[in-house]
Amino acid sequence: MIGDLQRGDMTVAVIGTGTMGRGIAQVCAQAGMTALMFDARPGAAREAVTAIDKALDGLVTKGRMVANVKAGVMGRLRAVDSLDAVEPAGLVIEAIVEQLDAKRELFRELEKRLAPDAVLATNTSSLSVTEIAAGCANPARVGGLHFFNPPPLMRLVEVIGGLRGDPALIAALTGFVRRIGKHPVVATDTPGFVVNHAGRAYGPEALRIVAQGIASPREVDLLMREAAGFRMGPFELLDLIGADVTHAVMTSIYRQYFDEPIYQPSAEMTVRVAGGLLGRKSKQGFYNYDGPPQASAPTIAVVAQPKPTSAWIAYEDGGRELAEWLGAAGVKTQLGGVPAAGALCFVTPFGEDATGAAVRLKLDPSRTVAVDMLGGFKARRTVMKTPLTTPETLGAAVAALSEGAAVTAINDSPGFVVQRLLAMIVNVGTRIAELRIAAPSDVDTAVELGLNYPKGPLALGDLLGARRVLAVLDGMQAVTHDPKYRATAWLRRRALLGVSLLTPD
Ligand code: NAI
Repeated sequence: MIGDLQRGDMTVAVIGTGTMGRGIAQVCAQAGMTALMFDARPGAAREAVTAIDKALDGLVTKGRMVANVKAGVMGRLRAVDSLDAVEPAGLVIEAIVEQLDAKRELFRELEKRLAPDAVLATNTSSLSVTEIAAGCANPARVGGLHFFNPPPLMRLVEVIGGLRGDPALIAALTGFVRRIGKHPVVATDTPGFVVNHAGRAYGPEALRIVAQGIASPREVDLLMREAAGFRMGPFELLDLIGADVTHAVMTSIYRQYFDEPIYQPSAEMTVRVAGGLLGRKSKQGFYNYDGPPQASAPTIAVVAQPKPTSAWIAYEDGGRELAEWLGAAGVKTQLGGVPAAGALCFVTPFGEDATGAAVRLKLDPSRTVAVDMLGGFKARRTVMKTPLTTPETLGAAVAALSEGAAVTAINDSPGFVVQRLLAMIVNVGTRIAELRIAAPSDVDTAVELGLNYPKGPLALGDLLGARRVLAVLDGMQAVTHDPKYRATAWLRRRALLGVSLLTPD
């Protein structure tokens, strides 16, 4: 039996009043419910109430909350000193330390005190809801409510029903999430649920790009912000969240999926964590937060050259668009055919490296560069050299591409930076849909709301073109023979059919 979580007089109890618990309690009280707050550390729940009081004062000062609304919210928040006091709660949300034994022990203690139809929810990020529930006398009433930090601001809550959950549990929990003004996304009980699973593409792949000397952290960040439209570059994000936290999540999800190569963590991060280069919190990470910003040398020092008067462009996908760019810069272009002797040659590969494209098209690699044509490329473009491209060729290519945009020069690799990161994000998104972890549209909603990406991975794939994304992945796999880059069957089928990646089976 699952109790009614829409009852007007329902009391919620929040156990663990740290970063997450206090935010969850605040949200419940703001939605009109009485919120009991308990923490194992004496005095912690009271400190949390004081912190909420201060936060709401800030809202009142800024005119975002009226004083009597604040007084009402504070009147519904109650710090309690004993677990016995949570007995009237119809729903308990647990936000204690992330340890299976501690959570199981707490739930056993709660079961003794609560009404038989009261619901128990865990805010765990990385443990299995089913495994936590298995320690209970009645696992049918145990589910997951995964909030995001900070709960008062983040709209998403993932709802997870354990394998032994009551059939009515999901509906009750999603109804509760709506009641507190949040957006529920239902996910199966799998490692990382949707959001932390989807987030395994951006950081790890960016770390591989830097480890392979293709571009620097700053260059990758600039490209993802200015060429791909992300709010934060992957290294800015790693520094914000903290290398220790990110690396632990990466490792946990990789292991829980039995060493699936797609989620392989970065060996370099182990060293960075050991060395205390944690990011903002330790004042040093991929960037320096202590003192003036360090100047970072470009991966490739481009020698300034005049714009070429003419250039040859491979007559392949992206070639026509590149011809328009170069034409706008006053460069005469030849699209396809045989390049004139000594001509500057541009190729536009998807998933192939510059060398591969030059050799396949029988071009002189010393006169050849590749340009990334995937995505928006509003303010920044990428040019990639082969190991034999001359400094004069690269300099002239950069000059030709600099009209109205910044240019980043990178070393040869399949998939450039933007292609590679976007294709991985899309592929992992299709994997979540393929594994039925959430409905396709919910995968996108969860990523937009939980990770603040400009678009969900499936809509992003549609925007870029599923065929192009598939070409990037197939190309990267062909060059590297690395199973990390194998495209999902979900992506391949939809690319072949020419339909949206959001199309269900
Ligand atoms: P925190 O360390 O800020 O707070 C945990 C609180 O629980 C502390 O006040 C501690 O005294 C108390 N506590 C520990 N064991 C207890 C017990 N047995 N009974 C009662 N209270 C106990 O931790 P945070 O960050 O708030 O995380 C809490 C939970 O939320 C964890 O499961 C975490 O994985 C999850 N979570 C954390 C997110 C984050 O960004 N911090 C995001 C989403 C989920």
